[in-house]
Amino acid sequence: MRSNPAFVIFGATGDLARRMLFPSLYFLDADGLLPADLKIIGAARSALRDSDFRAEIETAVKARSQEPLDTEVWKRFASRLRYCGGDAGRPETYGCLASLLEGSQERIFYLSTSPALYGAIVRGLAAAKLSEGESRIIVEKPIGRDRASCDMINDELSQHFAEKQIFRIDHYLGKEAVQNLIALRFANTLFEPLWDKVSIDHVQITVGETVGVEGRWAYYDEYGATRDMVQNHLLQLLCLVAMEPPADLDPESVRNEKVKVLRSLRPIGGADIARCTVRGQYRRGVTDGAAAPGYTEETGGAASDTETFVALCAQIDNWRWAGVPFYLRTGKRMPARSSEIVIQFRAVPHSIFGENDLMANRLTIRLQPEEEISLLLMNKTPTLAQGASRHGFDLKPLSLNLSLDDAFAKQRRRIAYERLLLEALQNNSTLFVRRDESEAAWTWVDAIIDGWTKQGVAPAPYPAGTWGPSSAFSLTLRNGHTWFE
Ligand code: BG6
Repeated sequence: MRSNPAFVIFGATGDLARRMLFPSLYFLDADGLLPADLKIIGAARSALRDSDFRAEIETAVKARSQEPLDTEVWKRFASRLRYCGGDAGRPETYGCLASLLEGSQERIFYLSTSPALYGAIVRGLAAAKLSEGESRIIVEKPIGRDRASCDMINDELSQHFAEKQIFRIDHYLGKEAVQNLIALRFANTLFEPLWDKVSIDHVQITVGETVGVEGRWAYYDEYGATRDMVQNHLLQLLCLVAMEPPADLDPESVRNEKVKVLRSLRPIGGADIARCTVRGQYRRGVTDGAAAPGYTEETGGAASDTETFVALCAQIDNWRWAGVPFYLRTGKRMPARSSEIVIQFRAVPHSIFGENDLMANRLTIRLQPEEEISLLLMNKTPTLAQGASRHGFDLKPLSLNLSLDDAFAKQRRRIAYERLLLEALQNNSTLFVRRDESEAAWTWVDAIIDGWTKQGVAPAPYPAGTWGPSSAFSLTLRNGHTWFE
């Protein structure tokens, strides 16, 4: 039975809380999706009165909302908000929280802070007996910088919270298009029989961003594209493409299948470092029509060999995928904000169409900027069409397109965090990362980074506004493939 549920955000005055978490909670409230008696408590270092805190949150929610706030909804939302100021390392902070949480059995703590504070926070919560009963914590990436630091953080969390109480966020799993990938694969009969090495030639997963490091230099330079994007978002996408059909959508069914994929990834090391990986770092160039500085010239920048681009050729050693390359690519200051998964099917085994060049079928699942699914098919050009030749069969590749934005035109697209917060409120961890997943992902990524260090692989330069260094093109060409742009 639910009793006085409470949602507590540590780091309540920070960037993520203001840009994503509070607006998401407000939108959920506006749609009637929050429990009527849910309390929302912000915790952070600074001393703030409840009224000042509410004013700050109102500004943050307004900045995110496309429409003026509904007065009634805002009144309801504001009445849920409380603030608790104090240092995460001091017991008084938890005393204040405990008194605000009096009578709440179901408590969700969102740790929107640096992971360096996770230990102190879970210890403080446990000492104040706030980790017991129906409590759960939500933690943000980065969960470590490598497998060893990931283990340390997870060990700290698990001293006071059981695995089923720990919700590790990967905001890509909250994206509609990412969940739609599960629907596309498992709610249609069409694809599954073709979803393997027999019919699929290779897979490309690209997450391109036009932005640079945008004032996050200090964090980013410690991590780089591989730790910041591949270890989590890109590997999660790969898992959803490659996993076996789970028995149901139960958290353990889905996560068991994902972890099997991660454990089947062939380690990249030795000679494969040069063959299967590319690191890049942007130099000056042009993005979004404006001059862009080089990475080391960004605010806070200094000499650095951190990669802002990475391309990998991954292999999944299992029966379904043996021999099918999965190309992963992500970078800052790319020519377009574009995230997509391309499933390249094999060519027909024999062409009966003489001189016509046949293109193999291609399924593109576009996640960003708009959600779209397209399927490239070979078609016959109508005989009377202008420019058609006298041959009976002039063939042309055409695309069958499904735009999710058009299909659900008038509906506001939820931000990824709304879905995830709602799932956490409902105690459903299907869309959250289990400990063994994050461990397996780090183990695979660590081997690559270790290979770069041992072999002295420095990032190759690329001009801002391009798709990475030229070696990224050789990576696919080596297997006779090219990136789709
Ligand atoms: C974050 C990374 O996890 O994801 C950022 O730390 C990156 O560097 C961001 O910009 C991309 O997310 P989205 O939703 O804009 O694709």
